[in-house]
Amino acid sequence: MKTYRVAFIGCGRIASLHAEGYKASPLCKVVALTDVKTDSAKAFAEKHGFCDAEIFTDYKTMLRKVRPDIVSICLWTGLHAQVVKDCARAKVPAIHCEKPMAPTWKDALSMVKAVEKAGTRLTFNHQRRKLPVFRKARELVEEGAIGQLLRIEAFNPKNILDWGTHVVDMTFKLNGDKPAARILGQIDAREGGAWFGIPFEQAAIGWLTFANGVTAVIQSGDQKEMNLGFRLHGTEGDIEILETEPHLRIRAKGRSTWQVLKVKGNLHDAKNEQMQAIMKDITDGLSKGRKMEISARHALRATEVIYAWFESALTRQTIEFPLKPTGTSYATVAKAAGIRPKK
Ligand SMILES: NC(=O)c1ccc[n+]([C@@H]2O[C@H](COP(=O)([O-])OP(=O)(O)OC[C@H]3O[C@@H](n4cnc5c(N)ncnc54)[C@H](O)[C@@H]3O)[C@@H](O)[C@H]2O)c1
Repeated sequence: MKTYRVAFIGCGRIASLHAEGYKASPLCKVVALTDVKTDSAKAFAEKHGFCDAEIFTDYKTMLRKVRPDIVSICLWTGLHAQVVKDCARAKVPAIHCEKPMAPTWKDALSMVKAVEKAGTRLTFNHQRRKLPVFRKARELVEEGAIGQLLRIEAFNPKNILDWGTHVVDMTFKLNGDKPAARILGQIDAREGGAWFGIPFEQAAIGWLTFANGVTAVIQSGDQKEMNLGFRLHGTEGDIEILETEPHLRIRAKGRSTWQVLKVKGNLHDAKNEQMQAIMKDITDGLSKGRKMEISARHALRATEVIYAWFESALTRQTIEFPLKPTGTSYATVAKAAGIRPKK
């Protein structure tokens, strides 16, 4: 049985989530840790028992010396594109990068192009795809439990780029990963703050239409009272995915009352089960040549929606897909509105 040699680039907070996935995989061995702060890499090694892993401060040196099979990139968003492209150039067979993809649509496209040219694999940590609550909800839709899916309402706490990438990605999953056709979006460009070095808007609303006719209305901004993650309306029933318990309930075809469905975990975590499934997706992709559910092609779809949303807010038009390779972001929209984004 082949063991995959894993290296980390970035050993901060989110790296621990990746570590839980690798520790549970019999096929993975963590052999290298890279962080500009050696103390962070050492603390990370100690916390997770990666005692034999070699520590580096420079990822290019690590790539050259270690030649890992899998790399986990756990860096701030602005660094993703360059580091992914360097990993592709070094022919790392599986590059697993944190979300969101990149600070512009152009950057996101360039990452995928570089990896496809190098013939390696790129995945993004849209780990919510593997959570039982979303998997079960999609199964119910596929079984026809609410008739035909017509409309999705999705609620994002804030920041359509950083948090929103999960919410938009889940909207795709709930609709069977059908392609999107167009989006009409608006943002409240007043500063919401800065997150991992990238300024974000205060609030936003997006009306997304998929090629199969399903529509999704995604609202973003502080809305704690809603307690809603997603609501799915079908021709004969509804499903709700809720922040607090019960996390999943259905008003199924032929019933007038809500029925609660028990699922492991919540909308964010299932005792790391989701990360074990992510690492299995990657190792199965490598060993069996399988398509990966968390592939860059899926991440690109969610990213395209987000940047088209900004483009729509900027141009005050519905944006049809595919989105041309623009550099439009929240900062562009804020600038056009005469608002200086918070650094
Ligand atoms: N998937 C999720 O649900 C989820 C949740 C939280 C954060 N994230 C994403 O994870 C990313 C990182 O977040 P974090 O909370 O781990 O940040 P962090 O600041 O805790 O960790 C980043 C680490 O990278 C190191 N670093 C910086 N530059 C480096 C370089 N050039 N080479 C090597 N190491 C370098 C830093 O020293 C730090 O230890 C962000 O893009 C964020 O959006 C994803």
